[in-house]
Amino acid sequence: MNILVTGGNGQLGCSFREKAEGTDHRFIFADVRPGGDMVLDATDLDAVCKAVSENDIHVIMNCAGYTDVARAETEEDLAFRINADAVANMAEAAKRNDAVLIHVSTDYVFDGTSGLPYKEDHAPSPVSAYGRSKLAGEKAVLDSGCRYMIFRIAWLYSRYGKNFVKTIYEKSAEKPVLNVVCDQVGTPTFAGDLVDLVINIIDAGMLDRQGTYNFTDEGVCSWYDLAWEICDISGHLCEVRPCMTSDYPTGVRRPAYSVLDKSKVKETFGVDIPYWKDSLRFCMKELIENEL
Ligand SMILES: NC(=O)c1ccc[n+]([C@@H]2O[C@H](COP(=O)([O-])OP(=O)(O)OC[C@H]3O[C@@H](n4cnc5c(N)ncnc54)[C@H](OP(=O)(O)O)[C@@H]3O)[C@@H](O)[C@H]2O)c1
Repeated sequence: MNILVTGGNGQLGCSFREKAEGTDHRFIFADVRPGGDMVLDATDLDAVCKAVSENDIHVIMNCAGYTDVARAETEEDLAFRINADAVANMAEAAKRNDAVLIHVSTDYVFDGTSGLPYKEDHAPSPVSAYGRSKLAGEKAVLDSGCRYMIFRIAWLYSRYGKNFVKTIYEKSAEKPVLNVVCDQVGTPTFAGDLVDLVINIIDAGMLDRQGTYNFTDEGVCSWYDLAWEICDISGHLCEVRPCMTSDYPTGVRRPAYSVLDKSKVKETFGVDIPYWKDSLRFCMKELIENEL
């Protein structure tokens, strides 16, 4: 299969790069800035269609996105251009070339007021500009009529790019105390686990199982629990103290509860999902080894 990865320089894109060599597929990594096989601005419909048709692409793996949740509050137009308009372009290119678009969305399409894990058909109700732009991206995929899969993930981390795990790992090496919110609960997603799922789906010929799927690692934790675990694994002698979201107002509302129900993805693809602590341990081992 020929697979175009957009946003190939980002943390999910880099996680695909890491595994690409071990597959029989031809991957083309594209991003708005140089660094991969091709420069491609996904907001340019003609350029996206040309890249897909000229390279005989079978799968567009969309890892591109506007991911700065706080800044999106003041740059909502830009967030929509990248998280919705560019997604519409990729969906159109997929449709014209009979390719499958695999798109990544977020728990932020929900408001976080549920007390039960969110199923895919729960009515979305985003409370942030970022969440609204991502929901618009999902709608663009559905409206396009292309062949698609949408994976809603949460709290993405890896050894690449910027993410909570790397931030806490670095800060806990320097500071004696870190205050971390304990009243936002969810489940992290190790990017490598999402990449494994997608490659398994492609290899097993399951690309026809279209739909929207939740995917995170297993279990439930707060940001405080996650930070505590990161310090424990790294051996950093930093005290992690629980605090409340209201102690640190940021001007952006985040879902207080964003646990996603993963029954559908497990039943549809017959996969076992790793427990969050196991994946965290694996990723941090890589992170620490690559530092040495
Ligand atoms: N991070 C999370 O916690 C999280 C949680 C849930 C869902 N997600 C979703 O998961 C996906 C991947 O996230 P990530 O953390 O890997 O994001 P990331 O590290 O921010 O990477 C996104 C990549 O997209 C590129 N990009 C921006 N505008 C583009 C354009 N017009 N055309 C092509 N590429 C463009 C970015 O380039 P520049 O950096 O140069 O702008 C960057 O390389 C996104 O859809 C995100 O919404 C993320």
